[in-house]
This record gives sequence, structure tokens and C-alpha cells, in this order.
Amino acid sequence: MSPAIVHAKAVPAASELVAIPVTTAEGTPEALEALGLPAAGLAAQGFAGKVDQLAFATRSDGRNVIVIGLGEAKDIDTNGLRRAAARIARASGRVKSVALPLLDAVPELSGNALAEAARAIAEGAGLGAYRFDEFRSAAAKPVLSRIVVVGRGGQKVAEAVAEGAQIAAAQNFARDLVNRPGGSLTPKALAAEAVKIARREKLKITVLGPKEIAERRLGGLLGVNRGSTQEPRFVEMAYEPASPTGTLALVGKGITFDSGGLSIKSGEGMMTMKMDMGGAAAVLGFFAAVRAVAPKCRVVGYMPMTDNMSNGDATRPGDVLTMRDGTTVEVLNTDAEGRLILADALCLASEAKPDAIVDLATLTGAVEVALGSRIAAVLSNDENWRTTVQSAADRSGERMWPLPLPDDYRPFIDSDVADLRNISKSKGGGTMTAGLFLKEFVAAGIPWAHIDIAGTAWWAEGDDAEFSKGGTGYGVRLLLELARTFSPPRR
Ligand code: BES
Ligand code: ZN
Ligand code: ZN
Repeated sequence: MSPAIVHAKAVPAASELVAIPVTTAEGTPEALEALGLPAAGLAAQGFAGKVDQLAFATRSDGRNVIVIGLGEAKDIDTNGLRRAAARIARASGRVKSVALPLLDAVPELSGNALAEAARAIAEGAGLGAYRFDEFRSAAAKPVLSRIVVVGRGGQKVAEAVAEGAQIAAAQNFARDLVNRPGGSLTPKALAAEAVKIARREKLKITVLGPKEIAERRLGGLLGVNRGSTQEPRFVEMAYEPASPTGTLALVGKGITFDSGGLSIKSGEGMMTMKMDMGGAAAVLGFFAAVRAVAPKCRVVGYMPMTDNMSNGDATRPGDVLTMRDGTTVEVLNTDAEGRLILADALCLASEAKPDAIVDLATLTGAVEVALGSRIAAVLSNDENWRTTVQSAADRSGERMWPLPLPDDYRPFIDSDVADLRNISKSKGGGTMTAGLFLKEFVAAGIPWAHIDIAGTAWWAEGDDAEFSKGGTGYGVRLLLELARTFSPPRR
């Protein structure tokens, strides 16, 4: 069980551990002494209140404390508070309860800004406490059962803390899905997770199996699934508030394992390919917290699900697929499968005429070459919508950076035998040519943004604040923020 995360105005007497936020100005020996902290001991550990510094100590009143550095007071923002809370929660694994009076570090905040800070602290606490132990035979039960976000503020702050806790839980759910191996989380099992969420959150859901997928002529999904013994699924989910202010469509790539197909990946290249459903996981994570955030717009999710395998009748390089809208695609590399299943999903999304579309996909290794594993790429057919998506990501603390969709690169995906080919003729720019391919399937006039999360869906380094090894749940928070603030973009 993950710890309960609650708000209190003062540090509860029962808290086993108390976090003490310390800025660099407060990190001097004199200032630490004034806070009742053992200055010499902390100095010996190199603690000076710098960002991310953390140390355990006993305060003069006998309290066990965890000191967390926040850097310069003027630079503290919600992302920094989320980060600090995550570090504390992770470091508090061995106590039953911890109190986080981090709002004290931002005395100037009030109203909405205070509530947002409280929400970010709760998010960080929930994310930092995350463990993935499903496959350990003897996982020690986590001891930490209660995290108290301490600080001024009434009902509004308490509600923000509760909301932050639910957002973190939804993001952790997405991390669980990404971390579950391809042999366990089959397309059928992933669709079953969607059904569970839909029941809990009272959402409309349609799950298409092989027969319905064929009836709807989802040729991309069928073509990718052809090499697998696992059945494909196509999941459509919808959140419908009373009088919606518009419709937002979310599309998520749901490749439960990507072997590359006949254009097979290397052993090394396949090791993390259980994460290739990170886009669908983000969309499902969004729906898992949709009632907590209660957006005023309708939100419809489209998730094509299959693995990409290479049995005796797998799609062969050179095969031509006919997508949902009749476009024919020459498959020259079966490892460029994401765009094939997304093409059908974007057609279906477009047919429903939403006010805007966002897709999330672990689409190209090239995006990690360009931006690394902390920053996603955003590509769009509409500048205005792109900046809206990007600013939601700025607020949620998930980083992204734009790449263009250059018209003169479009001929690189012209085929000699069909309407399109699924890989570029030209070297380089793989994230952009993949984006140009997707763009072909978005109906003209619908603002659309494609977020390539191949780098950001997975974190391979060690624990770092809200990140731990494995699935990151990238996208859950930004989709919730985007829906919460959505109004149909002007065209
Ligand atoms: N799922 C991969 C992309 C990926 C790579 C995700 C690394 C995460 C980490 C995708 O299906 C793929 O294999 N893309 C190919 C496209 C190429 C064949 C044009 C790639 O990026 O190499
Ligand atoms: Zn692939
Ligand atoms: Zn893939």
C-alpha cells in the first residue's frame, strides 16, 4: 500500500520524522544552530542548504529530523517543492510517518499559488514513495504509511493536497503499467486495466477485439499484430462532464512489447521495450485521476494495443497495409510500427471531430539522441495549440521542447509503390519524419500535437527525486493539467 498523504496546519506530535526545509541563507552554521540543528555535524556531511542536499539529524528538542536543501529562497518554485518532497518521501522509507512543512519555505504565497504549491508537494511525496515490487519474492513491506503536508491554509489547501495525492497515485499506476513485462502485460491485460479504471471512474469504454478491429479496417494495427500470437485490442474511453466546454482527444501508443518484428532489434535494444506502451499508460493514468481533477471538457482516449512480434506470418518488409482512411503504406521497416497503429487511432480520433488532439508515443530512438531522457519533443500542426500544450507541461513540471514538421521533408516518406512508406529515405531527423507521417492521418483543421516520449517514458539512471529506475509515468500530470485548463483553441 502506498502511504496516505494528508494536510495538517501544524506538525502532528505523532510524526516520527519531520522534514526541515533549509535555504542556502539558512545553511550557515549560525543559522542552522538557530534552528536547533547540529551545525557541526551537518557541516561535516557537507550540508549547506543547496538544492537536493539531504541529511538526517536530531534537533535540540529531541525530534528526529530530515534536513532538505532548497537552494536560494528566491529560486524556489513549485517544481522545486515537488522535487524536495519526493526526495524526503524516498528517504523516509524506514519510518511510519513523516511531516513535510515545506510550505513554510514559501511564506509569500497565498490563494491559488499556495494551493498549487501544496498540490505539487503532495504529488512529489506520492511519487517519491513509489516502489515496484510486484515481481520480488520477498519484498519488505514498506513501513511509511502516512505523509503529512504541513502548512497554513484551509479547505482549499487540504483539497489541493488530496488532489495531488490522487495525481501521484495515477502517475504511479502508469509507472506500474510500464514496468510490467511484455509477457505479463499483454494487449488483453492492458485493455483489462482500462476497463477497471473505467468502472472505478464511471467512464464510457469500448474495447475492440480482432473481429471489430478488422470490421473497422484498422489496417495498421492488424498489420503490426500479424506477427503475434496475442490478440490486439483497441480501447476507446470517454469522460463526459455535465455541460462540456469542448472535446479533447488523447491518443496513446500501446505496444506492449516491441521486438522490432522481422526488422528485429538487437538484444540490447529490446531490453527496455516493455515500455513501448508508455503513451497508452499516460492516457490511462490521466483517466485514473480524471474525477479528482474534474475537467469541464469532454475527454476521449484512443489506445491501439498490440505487441510487435515476428512469427511465421509476420508483416514482411515490403508489405503494403491499408490504413483506416484508405491510405496505403509500404512497410519497409517493421520496427517503425508505432506510426502504423497511431495512424488508425488518429483517423478514428479525427472522425469524431474533437476540438484538439494530443498523442503521446514512445515513437523514435532519435528523440533521445536529440533531447535525452528528461525532455520530450512536441511537434504540431498548430503553433497556438503547441504552446498551450507546452505551457501545461511547464506547469506540471514535465519538460518538452518543440521540433518542426518541415514541408520539404515530407517527400522523404513518399513510397515507390504505395501512398507512403513507413521510414524516411533520408538519414537523420527521424523524430520529424515520424511526425510528418502521423500528420497525414489528422483531419485538416484539427489542432494536433504529437509528443514523442521515447526518451522520457523510461528512466535508466538511479533514484533522483521523483524519478526512479524504470517507467516514469511521463505525461499523466501534463494531460491532467491540459484538460483542467482546456478551452477549444482558436483556429
Ligand atoms: N519503440 C521504438 C522507439 C524507441 C526506441 C522507444 C528507444 C524507446 C527507446 C520504435 O518503435 C522504433 O523502433 N523506432 C525506430 C524507427 C526507425 C526504424 C525508423 C527507431 O527509432 O529506431
Ligand atoms: Zn519499433
Ligand atoms: Zn515501438
